[in-house]
Amino acid sequence: MALPDRLVGWLTPYLAGRPVTHGLAEGLRGLILDGRLLPEVRLPSERALAEALGLSRATVTSAFDVLRGEGLLRSRPGDGTRIVLPSHRPYADPDGVARRGDAIDLTAAVLPAGDAVDEAMRHAAFQLSPFLTGAGVHPSGLDELRAVIADRYTRRGLPTTGEQVLITSGALHGWNLLLGAVASPGAHILVEQPTYPSVVDAVLAHRLRPLPLPVDEDGWDVSQLSSNRAALAHLTFDGHNPTGRWASDAERGAVLAALPRSTLVVCDETLVDFPHQAVTGTPTAALTGRTVVTLGSMSKTFWPGLRVGWIRGPVGLVSRIAAVRTGVDLGPAVVGQLAARHLLDRADQLLPARRRVVAARRSALLEALDTADWPHQRPGGGLSVWVDLGGISSTDLARLAPEHGVRVTPGPRFTVTGTHDRHLRLPFVLPPATLADAVRRLSEAATRAGRARRPSRQAPYSSWVV
Ligand SMILES: Cc1ncc(COP(=O)(O)O)c(C=O)c1O
Repeated sequence: MALPDRLVGWLTPYLAGRPVTHGLAEGLRGLILDGRLLPEVRLPSERALAEALGLSRATVTSAFDVLRGEGLLRSRPGDGTRIVLPSHRPYADPDGVARRGDAIDLTAAVLPAGDAVDEAMRHAAFQLSPFLTGAGVHPSGLDELRAVIADRYTRRGLPTTGEQVLITSGALHGWNLLLGAVASPGAHILVEQPTYPSVVDAVLAHRLRPLPLPVDEDGWDVSQLSSNRAALAHLTFDGHNPTGRWASDAERGAVLAALPRSTLVVCDETLVDFPHQAVTGTPTAALTGRTVVTLGSMSKTFWPGLRVGWIRGPVGLVSRIAAVRTGVDLGPAVVGQLAARHLLDRADQLLPARRRVVAARRSALLEALDTADWPHQRPGGGLSVWVDLGGISSTDLARLAPEHGVRVTPGPRFTVTGTHDRHLRLPFVLPPATLADAVRRLSEAATRAGRARRPSRQAPYSSWVV
């Protein structure tokens, strides 16, 4: 859908009350601060917008004047009216981890490891002796693990050989290796907004430029992509972190069709093992004729502490990354790879129980949110829900929540532009009773929190988010 049509859909509900100027300014302000309208995007002309909304031009001019006064719009002769936001990135607080204390920790979307990981580590220790006579260095990863991963893709409908798989120290490491091997200095990189924060942190650490692609309750919004020349696009169609969206095969096709052929598509499947509905399970790479690189990980399925993930792509690209990689690291520890192989060999037996645990925790959290009357997008997959705080600042809430015995990561941490302050990610990885208790505590804290307005500059972000 084109941007003017989207604007009509988004803004019409705001025009019912009086005065209309106020409603229009309020609606546009919300879209900007919510990150649905991106910085530097040009709005339709005042005349065109007035016509599309059935308003007088003077009404639109007055509403734009209000937002120009607030510094959220910029109009220049010959350049039209564009969205403006203070350019900054929420900072990472390196002490965040140490200060977590005893509070209920809702900052991590990670399940406990469980007995299967414990058993796999012991098994790996027994398997280690043949490797001890060699150097123990395998820059592409252990062949036996690459083969098991390739076989899993083949069974999902994406024929794959071991040579197409490179073992990494997690999906994030895979993303970093790709950025290092493929992106030229200063290149633009398309990232979802909101997204998993380290995806953006990695782009910035490589001195590349993140371009946000909005993901909202209607899905992936490609209507503002027009001038996009991204070298790579990072997409999480399978259990999007933080919203929990799960794209249909048709939605994936539509997003890929909107991206220039020169953009290398990277599909992050870190959360692929947790759909909450019937899905085809076909990897995105098997749905398109274009090159798609897939990132995989043991972290959400089994345990982030294993630090094992992988890149799956064309043999040429995988070899290129393997060659560049030796300047960064020489491959993950053998013992972790052996444990990963043992777990993947048994994944079909282990996963149903893990999914049942997630389903029970998801239901408990959604029920608690319904009781608290907090709107949220029903997650189609993944391990978290994206809550709409209805105008309360999640930055303020995150600051106050520890006083009520709970820790959360505020919405802006999941963005490039510092927006989404009325949103909050809540993971459903803790026991049901704990989740219900956490929502009760958060509701108490919310009564003290201020209203979400401007992108916030000094929020209590933790240094890492999983
Ligand atoms: C979408 C996404 N990608 C990557 C990661 C990091 O995964 P890994 O631990 O495999 O580096 C996460 C962790 O939360 C994630 O949500």
